[in-house]
Amino acid sequence: MERIKQHAIWGHKGTFVLAATGSAVGLGNIWKFPYITGENGGGAFVLMYLVFIALIGVPVMIAEVTLGRHGRANPVASVQKMAQQSRVSLGWGAIGWLGVTTAFLILSYYSVIAGWALDYMSTAIQGGFSGWDGEQASAAFEALQADPWRLMIWQTLFIGMTVLVVAFGVIRGLETAVRVLMPLLFLLLLLLLMYAAVAGEFARGLSFMFSFNPGDLSWEAASVALGHAFFTLSLAMGAIMAYGSYMPGRASIGKMVLTVAFLDTLVALVAGLAMFPIVFATPGLSPSEGPGLMFVSLPVAFGNMPVGVLFGAAFFILVTLAAWSSTISLLEPCVAYLTERFGWRRLSANVVIAGSAWLLGIGSVLSFNLWKEVKPLLGLTVFGLLDSATQQVMLPLGGLAMAVFVGWIAKREVLRRELRQESDGQFALWLLLLKYVCPPALLLILAGSFWA
Ligand code: PHE
Repeated sequence: MERIKQHAIWGHKGTFVLAATGSAVGLGNIWKFPYITGENGGGAFVLMYLVFIALIGVPVMIAEVTLGRHGRANPVASVQKMAQQSRVSLGWGAIGWLGVTTAFLILSYYSVIAGWALDYMSTAIQGGFSGWDGEQASAAFEALQADPWRLMIWQTLFIGMTVLVVAFGVIRGLETAVRVLMPLLFLLLLLLLMYAAVAGEFARGLSFMFSFNPGDLSWEAASVALGHAFFTLSLAMGAIMAYGSYMPGRASIGKMVLTVAFLDTLVALVAGLAMFPIVFATPGLSPSEGPGLMFVSLPVAFGNMPVGVLFGAAFFILVTLAAWSSTISLLEPCVAYLTERFGWRRLSANVVIAGSAWLLGIGSVLSFNLWKEVKPLLGLTVFGLLDSATQQVMLPLGGLAMAVFVGWIAKREVLRRELRQESDGQFALWLLLLKYVCPPALLLILAGSFWA
């Protein structure tokens, strides 16, 4: 059994919602969701994503928070505590271990992309987007990708920022960040949406995202949508479990999870709706632009709108902050594990993990330039490989294990006690989804994407 330390508990009932939203809302919503929607055909993808969030993401998230709050320890120890009380092997703790490993791998490439946002922030502050058209925006993005040193400087800076917060206390830093900055980010997205409605091809953007074409359904798209549902809700990585472990006992888990899932989905949809109309109205840009979608479409908008310098700078600052509150939640469970399990000092654990993630991240940096043609496996670059392995394999696998463990193995009375604020009907519905919907759906999509 892992050594269990007394964990801090958040002072306010709402802090979990704030921190979990800070973790959930990040590059996944603003950078990734629009571009994978563009690559996977639009409406059909969005529909699958929404269904997965509601039927799989939300039940698994409730399971994960429940494990965390019940265990009140790092992810591995929390799962083990539930295993012990349910009289099954402590080997189930591997779920927590898989989560911590996935968090580490994601941290390595996430900070590279967050570095792009930092670079754009500095360009924006210098008024650099002014008058940009599609060609200039694409050229600028390519120039950034081609320069490993520039990418590495920003990646290093960003990892450093994350280490700083995790070293000095997650909770205080996060509270301010999320309470003040998230609403600001959302306001700016709404402003971009208004700009897109006036200056972009809004109707085309809308129909691209919401008109359903059955021909676009595929195993590949389903697997990307499912992986993204986990990624965007920060599931199966120990992050939400770690935050749940700080949650006061009197708060209703179900309500909080629904709030986080709703806010997270809203931000992603608004981000998509703000970008596609601009993409359609700008010659030279296409929805299937790939990872550069946000970085080419939005500078065109900022460069051509009144006081765009100000809005552009504010936007990239806020995206950086949103990414920051996400990487903090990726690093935190890894650090909690090493300190609680092996008695490491917090600072050493922090520096060792972040340092290793930084080193591995260089592989992702080089994937966009010097190693562009280096494809170690399945025709994917190092970045592509890390991205697909975590998102399409490790996250669904972790989700599957968690759904099976909590739905089938954990003692029902223990769960019911932890979810005591929920009505009998709500509890039964949750357990039904977790037992009978999540595992087969996850298995099917995992298997489907392997064979397809
Ligand atoms: N949910 C974050 C995003 O969408 C990414 C993340 C995953 C953060 C896992 C923390 C843990 O950007």
